[in-house]
Amino acid sequence: MLSIDASRIARVLAPVAIAVTAVLAGPAYAQSDYPTKPITVIVPFAAGGPTDVVARLLGEHMGRTLNTTFVIENVGGAGGTIGMTRAAQATPDGYTIAVGNMGTQTAAPSLYPNLKYDPAKGFEQVGICNYTPQTVVSKKGNPAKNLKELIEYIKKNDSKVSYGHAGVGSISHVAGLVFNAQFGLKPTLVPYRGTGPALADIVAGQIDYIVDQSLNVIPQIKAGTVKAYAVAAPARLESLPDVPTTKEAGVDFLFNAWNAMVAPKGTPKPIIDKLVMALNKALDDPSVKKRYNELGSTAPQGADRGPAGLQKLVDSEIARITPIIKASGASAN
Ligand code: MLT
Repeated sequence: MLSIDASRIARVLAPVAIAVTAVLAGPAYAQSDYPTKPITVIVPFAAGGPTDVVARLLGEHMGRTLNTTFVIENVGGAGGTIGMTRAAQATPDGYTIAVGNMGTQTAAPSLYPNLKYDPAKGFEQVGICNYTPQTVVSKKGNPAKNLKELIEYIKKNDSKVSYGHAGVGSISHVAGLVFNAQFGLKPTLVPYRGTGPALADIVAGQIDYIVDQSLNVIPQIKAGTVKAYAVAAPARLESLPDVPTTKEAGVDFLFNAWNAMVAPKGTPKPIIDKLVMALNKALDDPSVKKRYNELGSTAPQGADRGPAGLQKLVDSEIARITPIIKASGASAN
C-alpha cells in the first residue's frame, strides 16, 4: 500500500511554491510600484520642433503626476522613423516611451518599404497629445503679398524655389506633398532632422517656404522673422489673429497635424493605464491648455482620448493618407 508522508511533500514543495509566488507577484509588484526611476521619452525629431515642444510640455506635467522625471531623448533622422524604430524595439517595461506624429504613425509605412515598425499594431497606444493646424510661411524677403501670389511665385520659379521639411514621411513633408501637388508646384525639397532646424534656415533666408505646424512657426511669425500667408484651418487662430485662413486667402487647402504618445508593444496594461491617467491629467491642466492656446493647438476630448481614441485616429489616417502619398509618387528610396 502507498503511504503518503504529507509533511515530507510539504517540505519538498515549499521552495517551489515560494518561487512560483515570487514569479507571479514580481511583475505585478513592479507594475503597482511603477515608476521607480526616470522614464525616457524618445522624440524622433530634432530639439526645438513641434514634437519636441509637445513632448517636453506634457512630460513635465506627467512627471509631476507620476512622481518621476520624463527624460527627452531626441533621435532624429529619416522623417522620424529611426527614433520610432528604436521605440518599437525597446524593452516594454514602461521606462521607454515615445511621442510620434501623424507622419511617423501614418505616412511612414507607405514611404518606407522596409519600415521596421507597424504604427497600427506594433505599439501600445497611450493617447493623442494634440491637434495642430499647418501654416504656410516663407522667408521674410519673399515678394509675394498673399497666398495666391506665393503659389504663382513658386510656380514661376520652379526648382529654384526650395521647400524645407523634417525628412521623408514627416508631417511637413506630407503637408508639402499635398500642397505642392494640389497647385502643381515643383520646388526643390530639402530634408532636415526636424522642422526646428528647417525653420532656422528659413529665418536665415536659406530656404524659401514650409507648410508647418502653427506651434512651430507662431513665435517666428510674432517676432517678424518669417512671413505668414495662411493657417490651413477652418477658423483663424486666437494666437495669430492677423493671419487669414486658407479659405479667406481664396485657397482650398486644410491640413491638421497631431502628435501621439505610444509605448513598445507588450508594455503591461497597468503601466499603460498609469501613463494614460497622467497624460489626461496633463491635458486638463490649465497651464497646458493656456500653452496649447498660445501654440494654436487643441487637446483631444472625450472618446478621442486614451488608447482607443489614438488607435481609431491612426487607422483612419492611414486609410486616408496612403492613397494621397501613392498618388504623389513620393518614396524614401
Ligand atoms: C514634422 O514635420 O513631422 C514635424 O514638424 C517634425 C518635428 O516635430 O520637428
